[in-house]
Amino acid sequence: MTATITIGHEAGGKPVDFDIEELLATRLLVQGNSGSGKSHLLRRLLEESARLVQQVVIDPEGDFASLADEFGHIVIDGSAYSAGEIEALARRVREHRASVVLDLEGLEVEQQIRCAAGFLTALFDAPREHWFPALVVVDEAQMFAPVAAGEMAEDTRRMTLAAMTNLMCRGRKRGLAGIVATQRLAKLAKNVAAEASNFLMGRTFLDIDMVRAADLLGMERRQAERIRELDRGHFLALGPAITRLPVAVKIGPVRSGLKARAEGLMALPETAPADMEALLTGDLAADIRETAPPPPPAPRIEEVSEAIDRAEARQVAPEPLEPDSNPNTVAERIAEIIAHLARDESVAFQSSSAQYQTFLTRCRRERLIGPMPDMRAFHRRFSIAGAGLAELADQTQSAILRLAESVEEDLLAPFLVIAKAAHAGETKVDENAIARAYGTSSPGRIRRLLDHLERQGIIVVREEYGGGRTVLVPGLDHLPAE
Ligand SMILES: Nc1ncnc2c1ncn2[C@@H]1O[C@H](COP(=O)(O)OP(=O)(O)OP(=O)(O)O)[C@@H](O)[C@H]1O
Ligand SMILES: [Mg+2]
Repeated sequence: MTATITIGHEAGGKPVDFDIEELLATRLLVQGNSGSGKSHLLRRLLEESARLVQQVVIDPEGDFASLADEFGHIVIDGSAYSAGEIEALARRVREHRASVVLDLEGLEVEQQIRCAAGFLTALFDAPREHWFPALVVVDEAQMFAPVAAGEMAEDTRRMTLAAMTNLMCRGRKRGLAGIVATQRLAKLAKNVAAEASNFLMGRTFLDIDMVRAADLLGMERRQAERIRELDRGHFLALGPAITRLPVAVKIGPVRSGLKARAEGLMALPETAPADMEALLTGDLAADIRETAPPPPPAPRIEEVSEAIDRAEARQVAPEPLEPDSNPNTVAERIAEIIAHLARDESVAFQSSSAQYQTFLTRCRRERLIGPMPDMRAFHRRFSIAGAGLAELADQTQSAILRLAESVEEDLLAPFLVIAKAAHAGETKVDENAIARAYGTSSPGRIRRLLDHLERQGIIVVREEYGGGRTVLVPGLDHLPAE
C-alpha cells in the first residue's frame, strides 16, 4: 500500500503527488475565491485518500454528503443531535475510526459554529488509546476561526477558536491533521493559518488576501501576482507533503458528487457503512428529537376577523358603550393603542399580520368607529412608536424619517432603532433592541439585516478586532445633539 495520491497534474502532464503520511504531520491550507475550485480540490483529496486514512469533514454547505454514496462516509446531520450527542458521536468516531461528514447545512450560522466546535473539541479530547491518524477537513474555515468575532457571541467565539487552534497547533500528537480551506485568507485567524506547512493557493482577487498568501508562501509579492490569474481548478502548490518549489497544478477529476456520476462506481469499502452507522448512532436514536407534526396553516385574516366578530356577538354586551365616533378622540385613542402595543413584548415577536390583527381587535373592543389605518400605515406608525421617535425633537424626527424613505418597509422598525441610537451618539449596536424591532431573536438574521442595510449605503458597520461592532448612520451627523 502506498501512501501517495495524485492530486492533479502540471501543465506538462507531470503528476503532482501528495504524501499522505507527511500531510498528517504538516497539515494543509487551501485558499481561493469563491468558485476557484477549493471544494472540488478537497473532494479530490478525500476521494483519493479515502482508502488510506480516516477522514472527518466539517461541511457547512452540505457539499460533501455525497461522499457517502461511493466511499461509505457516514453523514452526521448536525441539526438532528443535541450538543451532548454530538460530543458522544465524536468520541465514537475516534474510537471506531469512522470516516464521517458532519453536515451543518440545516443550522443557523452560530449553531453551525457551536456544533462544529463541540465536535472538534471532543475529537481532540478523545482518550489516548483512540489517537488514530485522521484527516480533519474544515471547509469555509474563516467561519470557524475568524480574525474578528463579528456577530457571534463571545463564548461561541472562544469555543470555536480554541477548537480550531487545538486542531491546527496541537492536533498532530493526537493523530489529527487539520486541512482548512478558506475564501478569504485575511479573515482567517493567523495562528490557525500559520500552522499549516502545505499550501494550495487558488485564484485570489483581493490584494489583502494575496499579500497574506505571499507571506505564507515566503514569496515576493510580485511573484505571488501569479495567483491572481489562475483559472478555476488551478492552484499553486507548495509544502513538504507536495513539493519543495512552488508548482502550478490543475486538480484532477472527482468521482463522487453530482457531475461525475457517469464515470462509474468504485468497489465498496471494507467496513459496510450500515455496520459503521449502527456503531455510531445505535443508542442515540432514542434521544433524537421527535419530529413534531407540522403546524396547521395560518387562518386567513378574514376568517380571523369573522371569528372575532362571532365571538363578540356571543358575549353579553357590556354596558351600552357609546361607540366613540368623535374623530379627534378616535385618532388620539388609536395613537395610544399603537403606542401601547409597541411597548408590549408579546406583540413584538408576532408576525406583521398578527400585529395588525391585534390592533384591529383592540380597536373593535373599544368600539372605536372611524377611519382606521390600513396595514401599511399601521406598521409605519407601530415602527415609529416602537423606536420611541416621539421623544426626539421634530427636526430630528423628520430627518430620520427622510432617511427612512429609502428603507424597505419590513426593515423600517430596526432601522429607526439604529438611527435613534446613532443620533444619541451610541455607536454600539444594542442587539436586543434591534432583535425586538425586527421581531427575531436570531443573531444570523440580524447580521444579514445589518449587511443588507450596509450594502444599500444606509448604514456603515465597523467590526472591531475586540469583537465589538459599531454602526453609523450617514446623514445624521449634522443634527444638533439633544
Ligand atoms: N479541477 C476542476 N476540474 C473540473 N471542475 C472543477 C475543478 N475545480 C472546480 N471545478 C468546478 O467549478 C465549480 C466551482 O468549484 P468549487 O465549488 O470547488 O469552488 P469553491 O472554491 O469551493 O467555491 P466556494 O468558495 O464558493 O465554495 C464547481 O462546479 C466545480 O465542479
Ligand atoms: Mg466551496
